[in-house]
Amino acid sequence: MSQTPVAAPVRVRVDLGPRSYDILIGPGLLGEAGRHLAAALPGARALVVSDETVAGLHADRLLAALSEAGIAASLLTLPPGETTKSFDHLIAVVDRILAERLERGDAVVAFGGGVIGDLSGFAAGIARRGMHLIQVPTSLLAQVDSSVGGKTGINSPCGKNLVGVFHQPALVLADTDVLDTLSEREFRAGYAEVVKYGLIDRPDFFEWLERNRAAIFAGGAARVEAVAQSCRAKAAVVAGDEREDGDRALLNLGHTFGHALESVARYDPARLVHGEGVSIGMALAHRFSVRLGLCPGQDAGRAEAHLRAAGLPTRIQEIPGDGFTLDALMDRIAQDKKVSRGALTFILTRGLGQAFVARDVSPDALRDFLLDELRA
Ligand SMILES: NC(=O)c1ccc[n+]([C@@H]2O[C@H](COP(=O)([O-])OP(=O)(O)OC[C@H]3O[C@@H](n4cnc5c(N)ncnc54)[C@H](O)[C@@H]3O)[C@@H](O)[C@H]2O)c1
Ligand SMILES: [Zn+2]
Repeated sequence: MSQTPVAAPVRVRVDLGPRSYDILIGPGLLGEAGRHLAAALPGARALVVSDETVAGLHADRLLAALSEAGIAASLLTLPPGETTKSFDHLIAVVDRILAERLERGDAVVAFGGGVIGDLSGFAAGIARRGMHLIQVPTSLLAQVDSSVGGKTGINSPCGKNLVGVFHQPALVLADTDVLDTLSEREFRAGYAEVVKYGLIDRPDFFEWLERNRAAIFAGGAARVEAVAQSCRAKAAVVAGDEREDGDRALLNLGHTFGHALESVARYDPARLVHGEGVSIGMALAHRFSVRLGLCPGQDAGRAEAHLRAAGLPTRIQEIPGDGFTLDALMDRIAQDKKVSRGALTFILTRGLGQAFVARDVSPDALRDFLLDELRA
């Protein structure tokens, strides 16, 4: 693990009036976490929630940094994986908060990927009717997406992310060195969400990614810049639509298809992880837009080529195992919460970085398109 000398972190502000907060991004931030936490929440105690993998690799450094700053902290470690986003684990986190006698002014520190962030963010949102939350995201996906914006929650037997609250953090600390221990596959999956911001409405960022992909994967300044740009993009959308009543839906580019694919693959990470589903989903959204005469084929080709260059899948056939029938996919798409009253709502695009919310997508056109994709 590289012990990079601490340079000033990049600071991205999420503007939400009284709920505004900073995202700090840079190498070596874990070692500075105590100082930053104490500055944001003077006098607060902390419960650090993590998963076994992340805690085993990095918790010592975080706890030492908190202790050096005089912050009383304890650690709760949960099993890694999506199944941890459950009612049972929610109870475990809330019970621990109460057993530690933490008050509303104290902090829950979510130290892990999106699973830990969503679960402990929810616990922080409901324990004592809402406590402070500090996000210390450790996966690329969590650094560029799930730790920012205040959506928290768990899964229900009826589906993913169906139970939760909006609860904004008081601070996000994204230490880009921590990503060195992430598996290549998880890094790539997070990168799909980075590409997403370019494809939504930042064509310059997309071009920058085309030029800098290898450097971002290698680490260093390009990685910090990619995380910072992604956070700026997400912060801008969230500031304009905190509770997803309007434009925040653009963040779902690739996700209606992606969620359907994840569901058919039974959320089995051996077959498909979220970012891979999003990658295929974004490629499908671009090809579907071409088919509808909305987007030049060349732009869709460029989006797809970049995802492939990053080692991400872009076709349904690349997912191992079967079950990908037209009926299965249409069924999942119809169940998606982005479907309102029969009309299909999709994020489509007019070209690179020109995504828009299409509320009147014809189910017949979609069916024809998917049939061809499945036959291809
Ligand atoms: N709240 C939101 O706005 C939002 C947005 C997108 C996704 N999400 C949620 O995020 C979750 C996915 O997040 P994720 O991809 O981070 O999954 P995750 O939390 O399961 O992490 C992925 C894997 O990487 C491991 N890991 C994390 N950091 C590591 C590190 N530094 N070194 C080594 N291993 C590390 C974890 O232990 C886990 O096995 C999903 O539940 C999804 O619903 C939420
Ligand atoms: Zn996503």
